[in-house]
Amino acid sequence: MNQPIPPKDIAKRAAGHAAAKLIHDGMLVGLGTGSTAFYFIEALIERCASSNIKISAVATSERSAAQAKAGGIPLYDINKVTTLDITVDGADEIDHQKRMIKGGGGALLREKILASISREMVVIIDKEKLVDQLGIFPLPVEVVPFAHQLTLSRINKLGCHGSFRRKKNGDNTTLNELYVTDNGNYIVDIAFPQGCHSPEQTNNALKSIPGVVETGFFFHLAGRVIVGYPDGHIKIIP
Ligand code: 5RP
Repeated sequence: MNQPIPPKDIAKRAAGHAAAKLIHDGMLVGLGTGSTAFYFIEALIERCASSNIKISAVATSERSAAQAKAGGIPLYDINKVTTLDITVDGADEIDHQKRMIKGGGGALLREKILASISREMVVIIDKEKLVDQLGIFPLPVEVVPFAHQLTLSRINKLGCHGSFRRKKNGDNTTLNELYVTDNGNYIVDIAFPQGCHSPEQTNNALKSIPGVVETGFFFHLAGRVIVGYPDGHIKIIP
């Protein structure tokens, strides 16, 4: 017997499936990463298989690329494109100004590159991701392995509470091994015990540290936001 889907997943699926309806024939699509993006890619595969729509895509992670490839979606090398028609991706938090924290799934760098060359970034979230203030979700920051301890101490000297993300135990990893991104880098997750009061300033300070590749703050990138609810309905924030 099939397990019932948890309410949060119903919301994520509703948002992901609604986004698939925005994809039209001939589009070059950026595929996000994460559990909500998974539902989008699932619905996109189904939409392409059941209609005459032909699209191609670029993925923000090896995971999403594998899912799309298995579903028959042709994938492009990012170096062969200059613009994407649309990118559909999840978020960890989004505020009233559509500023976001992303990178919970570790794909923030590729996600930001694709979002930055997309005519529109459509954000798909469950309603829990809408926040008044960013920073309850720890901010992911991608750092190069060289001098990573030094980079962490410089991050923390800014008054941040950062620590390296670790691999989940159990999947053939040594206990406490550091998580490695698809780009071969590490992630520092920064906790803000009181929330983040000045995201732009924090972002600038972090990016001024040599060794920091990218932060999970996404500003001025979100277009339409599709919010899914546990009863399966959606709302679109234009
Ligand atoms: C991955 C991301 C995801 O979009 C974000 O973590 C949301 O994930 P989910 O849809 O699983 O809640 O930024 O790097």
